[in-house]
Amino acid sequence: MLGSGYTGHVLYTMGAAQGRTVLATSRNPLRNLAEVPSEQRVMFDLEQPSTWRNIPTGADLVWCFPATPLHQVETFAGWLNASARRLVVLGSTSAYEVGESQDYPPQWIDETAPIDLTKPRVQGEEFLRHKYGAIVLRVAGIYGPGRNPLNWIQQGRVGPSRKYVNLIHVEDLAAICLAAIEKGPPGEAYNVSDGQPHTWSEICATAQQRWNVAGTPTKEDHSTGKRISNAKVRTALGYTLRHPDLYETLQTLT
Ligand SMILES: NC(=O)c1ccc[n+]([C@@H]2O[C@H](COP(=O)([O-])OP(=O)(O)OC[C@H]3O[C@@H](n4cnc5c(N)ncnc54)[C@H](OP(=O)(O)O)[C@@H]3O)[C@@H](O)[C@H]2O)c1
Repeated sequence: MLGSGYTGHVLYTMGAAQGRTVLATSRNPLRNLAEVPSEQRVMFDLEQPSTWRNIPTGADLVWCFPATPLHQVETFAGWLNASARRLVVLGSTSAYEVGESQDYPPQWIDETAPIDLTKPRVQGEEFLRHKYGAIVLRVAGIYGPGRNPLNWIQQGRVGPSRKYVNLIHVEDLAAICLAAIEKGPPGEAYNVSDGQPHTWSEICATAQQRWNVAGTPTKEDHSTGKRISNAKVRTALGYTLRHPDLYETLQTLT
């Protein structure tokens, strides 16, 4: 795992439970990987080429931080001989923020929709996909233990609006990373979302009704948001979601 933050920690535990040897990288392993056995901690910083040699030859890679800046991504991938490895790169559904469509509800977005190649991370992801056969996961908003949308409402980070949001539970994301490493064809892109876009108005109303969670006033947001299709990950990768229902899962997070 290149980068062991929120998703990386879940991926580490899940991979190890499946009997894999998982190595976790950090720019500061002593501080950020204290719970990982020392022989599985790797010091790695994309910006520090002297740390690249710490990546073991032959390891498959899941890249868990934005693949940018492009020149560094290019040099690192060349140095690594990335095409000889299985490589999964976590991207973002923000790649699809292109143009100003005001359709409402917004059109469903699958992996053939246009992406914004002016975004640095999208440039990095597409470079790795085309040149080295990386599998790019375009990831929706990640939630789970410690990242609870009900807290975002309470803190005023989001408020009732017509905007559609797409979410994915961190356990599903980690499991999809492992499925992609195992059986994803090189060079593919997959949307990673629970496939149930909600408006923030609906989530806020449900939060109030079911859990008595009240928001704080927020700036009005008239944007449409997106509706992300997850059909490809379910059919082509054969993945069945563990957390398809946001509200059922929020019940267990409260
Ligand atoms: N959060 C969301 O809702 C969301 C939505 C869509 C897509 N994504 C994307 O999904 C991926 C995983 O998200 P996450 O929230 O699990 O990420 P995260 O918690 O930020 O973890 C990524 C880790 O990568 C390491 N890192 C950062 N820059 C690095 C660099 N230049 N070189 C080496 N390591 C570096 C950092 O760990 P150290 O400080 O220990 O090195 C960081 O904790 C990210 O690419 C994120 O942009 C996130």
